[in-house]
Amino acid sequence: MNNAPIGIFDSGVGGLTVARAILDVLPHEEIYYVGDTANTPYGDRPLAEVRTLALSIMDGLVDKGVKMLVIACNTASSAVLHDARERYTQRRGIPVIEVVVPAVHEALLATSNRRIGVIGTSGTITSGVYADALEVMPGIKVFTQACPRFVHFAERGVTTGPELLACVHDYLDPLAAHDIDTLVLGCTHYPLLAGAISYVVGDGVTLVSSSTATAKRAYAALVENQLTRDPSLPAPRHRFTTTGPTTRFLDLARRIIGPDAFGDDLKGTT
Ligand code: DGL
Repeated sequence: MNNAPIGIFDSGVGGLTVARAILDVLPHEEIYYVGDTANTPYGDRPLAEVRTLALSIMDGLVDKGVKMLVIACNTASSAVLHDARERYTQRRGIPVIEVVVPAVHEALLATSNRRIGVIGTSGTITSGVYADALEVMPGIKVFTQACPRFVHFAERGVTTGPELLACVHDYLDPLAAHDIDTLVLGCTHYPLLAGAISYVVGDGVTLVSSSTATAKRAYAALVENQLTRDPSLPAPRHRFTTTGPTTRFLDLARRIIGPDAFGDDLKGTT
């Protein structure tokens, strides 16, 4: 057993969708979340810069004593996964979970016609990480689209309205024209826009998000490494922190995670 928190981070509020899914399967675990809103969006930065930012956040989480790291960001997963496994798993024995492979796995299970769309940040799409992983399977056709403006809607908590719907049409109408039956939301911010995305692409397209699949991986890693929290302990007190302004971040965090998860003494900053 290990009663330390699970460290989770993203460039902002997107990783909260992963934190939410982890709490759904592991409600007794404690979360230490960092949203790097001072540096959001990661998706428009060179991957080398994202790597530096991500390692600095993960170093901070490790200094706080987390027992596992979850890179709840596709862009950071594309930029830093292998370094992170060497730095934290090999050297310090801390498991590192990421979000790309779980989503790839779910997409391959979901598709019938083997035509899969992938949307993500410019960094993730340019890295080719999804296309490389999916097209290893014979007969799979992948169609990608970077959707950099989506992050700004998600960070503002905007999930409806003509401006958002026009933007979703701009990005997704050309992708839907390829007759995809599965769409990977390859950015952890995008599940926050799933209503608008599904409305535009229609019910015939299955949306795959990394959140649930990543939560299953986190569950397996805790169990297999004997890191679960003592069941006799009282309910955990989570920390949701941000490197930038706190008010909007905490407001969204309360909406996504649920108010019950927050203690009265919640501190907003790292
Ligand atoms: N949520 C992140 C991802 O999954 C990054 C969004 C951004 O900061 O551009 O890629």
